Amino acid sequence: MANEWGPLAGLIGEWEGTGGLDTAYSHSQGKVLGTPYKEKVTLKPFGPVDNGRQHLYGLDYKTAMWRESEDNPFHTEVGYWLWDSATGEVLRGFVVPRGITVLAGGVASADATSFTMKAAIDDPQYKIAENQYLTANASSVSYEVTITIGDGNWSYAETTGLKMKEFGETFAHTDANTLHRVG
Ligand code: HEM
Repeated sequence: MANEWGPLAGLIGEWEGTGGLDTAYSHSQGKVLGTPYKEKVTLKPFGPVDNGRQHLYGLDYKTAMWRESEDNPFHTEVGYWLWDSATGEVLRGFVVPRGITVLAGGVASADATSFTMKAAIDDPQYKIAENQYLTANASSVSYEVTITIGDGNWSYAETTGLKMKEFGETFAHTDANTLHRVG
């Protein structure tokens, strides 16, 4: 029997990774900075969620990232990952507490070990919403994440396209990590 969570099944659990790398423009240092980070992720299964004839299975998602030697995380996300087995649609809806909400989507097979989800500020389906300050100063115009599931681990590589006052062209704010199962 096919797993109800499709390609998300391999993500269920508690995970930690110490090899994260963020590339962002640092306002305090006035330059683009590569920041190593450690991360803790939990992905808890739920479902089905029924929208009429549609039946979704999902993962309750929480993550936090820390810089070396700091007590408080410098980045967190909460949200849901969702799978629709009838269409192969895979979704990642999450909030970044800078005042940003993303619904990224893509298509994957039920047994996929790698898949990509995308969103854009002007996409009719998979959108990014943000606060007024960010629209004026550092707008998230695009988002793309590729997930790769291994044996006892999974990785992500993501790029957020930022239209920033500091740069003439869209700035690629990138993040990547490999998470290892701890529960
Ligand atoms: C692993 C994930 C992420 C990490 C670790 C991270 C980390 C950071 C860091 C360190 C900064 C620089 C802040 C500063 O020093 O001024 C930043 C800026 C920013 N990030 Fe992220 N980020 C992540 C994902 C995202 C995502 C998914 C989005 C949006 C979809 C996003 C949107 C932004 C925006 C808009 C800024 C610019 C704020 C400004 O310039 O005032 N980030 N991020």
